[in-house]
Amino acid sequence: MVDLQNQMKQAVASAAVEQIKDGMVLGLGSGSTAALMIEALGAKLSAGELKDIVGVTTSFQGEVLASKLGIPLQSLSAVDRIDLAIDGADEVDPSFQLIKGGGACHVQEKLVATLAERFVVVVDSTKIVERLNLGFQLPVEVLPSAWTQVQNTLAKLGGNADLRMAVRKAGPVITDQGNLVLDVSFDGGILDAEGLEKRINNIPGVLENGLFVNITDEVLVGEVINGVAGVRSLQKIE
Ligand code: 5RP
Repeated sequence: MVDLQNQMKQAVASAAVEQIKDGMVLGLGSGSTAALMIEALGAKLSAGELKDIVGVTTSFQGEVLASKLGIPLQSLSAVDRIDLAIDGADEVDPSFQLIKGGGACHVQEKLVATLAERFVVVVDSTKIVERLNLGFQLPVEVLPSAWTQVQNTLAKLGGNADLRMAVRKAGPVITDQGNLVLDVSFDGGILDAEGLEKRINNIPGVLENGLFVNITDEVLVGEVINGVAGVRSLQKIE
């Protein structure tokens, strides 16, 4: 299964890079699928198949990888536009609403995605769901001093929030901004993503949550059919 999933991720990463044109300012997402896309972009740049690209990364992970590959980078504050942003997701529902933040990078990811003229999501077929939050908890970035207060307020909204703990480090995950992450489950999943996104972001101490609502233009889905990896494009219906 892991190998099939990697094949699907590789297929969508390669398909997404085909949308990149010379001269574009690009939002470079985070996570394993976005990392494959950044690698594919780096390969195209070094082969001379693309030129005059500027990347805006969404995490420390992306910055390190893109720098290693020689992709020219700018900070978000230094650009006035992003032509195309490409990023992964943890869940995608039929209305193109997303849960992101599996890598705790959703603060910068949402800034980049909302500035972008076009936002393309790259996922393998396991990420397509009928309803959000039944299989993946919603990440919420919080100020460290506010985490228990936010946890209690989320409980009043019906959310059961766990503090995300680190692997190979004692204690919690610390985000690229120096904050903590609460992973939240709502009984029965999320029915009103648009309302919930606003309600959670309205809680004092919350920096951003991982609901990406009405931002996505296209979802590229990697799938393996009869042992062959392919890509299906889901276009937003206006
Ligand atoms: C990071 C993200 C990632 O895009 C999301 O977790 C998907 O990651 P992967 O491609 O590794 O499954 O939102 O904050």
